[in-house]
Amino acid sequence: MEINDFYLRFNEKPEYLYQAPSRINLIGEHIDYNGGDVLPCAIGLYTKAYVRKRSDQSVRLYSENTKLEVTADINNLKYDKSLGWANYPLGLFYILKSKGYSINYGLDIYFSSNIPLGSGLSSSASILDLTCYIINDIYNLGLDMVSIAKISQESEIKYNGLSVGIMDEAAIALGKKDSCLLLDTHNIEYKYIKIDLGKYKFVVLNTCKPRVLTESKYNERVYECNKALEVLKPVFSIDNLCQLKITDLDKALSLIEDNNIKKRVRHVVTEEERVKSFIDALDKKDINRLGELLKESHKSLKEDYEVTGDNLDTIVDLANKVAIGARMTGAGFSGCAIALVDINRFEELKEVVLEGYKNIFGYDAEVIAIDIVDGPNGYKL
Ligand code: GLA
Repeated sequence: MEINDFYLRFNEKPEYLYQAPSRINLIGEHIDYNGGDVLPCAIGLYTKAYVRKRSDQSVRLYSENTKLEVTADINNLKYDKSLGWANYPLGLFYILKSKGYSINYGLDIYFSSNIPLGSGLSSSASILDLTCYIINDIYNLGLDMVSIAKISQESEIKYNGLSVGIMDEAAIALGKKDSCLLLDTHNIEYKYIKIDLGKYKFVVLNTCKPRVLTESKYNERVYECNKALEVLKPVFSIDNLCQLKITDLDKALSLIEDNNIKKRVRHVVTEEERVKSFIDALDKKDINRLGELLKESHKSLKEDYEVTGDNLDTIVDLANKVAIGARMTGAGFSGCAIALVDINRFEELKEVVLEGYKNIFGYDAEVIAIDIVDGPNGYKL
């Protein structure tokens, strides 16, 4: 995306340039809506936006990726499936206006992204956080980064109808170079943990299979966890499933009738334990333990939470032939995985994964080296 692209589309020069990264989650999957601890980091694949203020009440949006242009009246916004991706930025205008923030003129925004879209790297949270960051900056709303994450999540839930947790929006808004975010999703307290593993790096494995049924299956898992909590809350005096002690797990499982819901609870409680062990292993730079925990997390997401699928299972198995460990990342149901690898073996990992994957599925996967980066930023041109 060049500055001139904005000019060619909107016949004016842009006034600002902004960007927001994407994210991977190292461990703590599907527990951010269960009050758990998660360990994501922002990565250097970005949504970028050139922006210009308008003097009327319209928002005009263009995406270089989808080639779709949408114009909407900021006083008359309503979710419209046919507008696709544009519902994300429009939702932020809607939510912020409905909270009473003074947004009394529109914007022209030209978006472009090098994040593989809909692949589990949070292209949606990236555009949500980016739009909230832009609005906050241009209209001087005075929001801090935690509020930007919370409002972006609220927008995704209320405007887009997805019962998502806070992880993705927080991971991007609070991103910090070379660190992961340890986020307690129960009270939104956080701290940073430096990722300093020498020659061992995290890389991304993209199955390049568009996610299917993600929305309905995701909402189904949230529903199943809520059902379990209804039964367990009075017995164990807990506010969320992640507060259940591992030592109470067997007793808890004996109180749940539905076999699928039992498995969901087992994943949630053991995943919370794995996050704690992972933090400990990061601290000790215990590479082999990190690898084991990545593998255990994937197994639990495959067998108990049932959110992986053939493509993710295969790419993870292939990666494990070379990497220290690998697991799916994000919502699952295809999309991306991560692997921890000795960077001197990166080319070997690439070869094994790309060749093996193509032989099985007949199309290409991607293996992407990544940097861990800071959150959104922008400036006046
Ligand atoms: C999606 C959601 C997150 C989180 C992950 C699974 O990325 O947006 O809130 O629940 O799935 O860990």
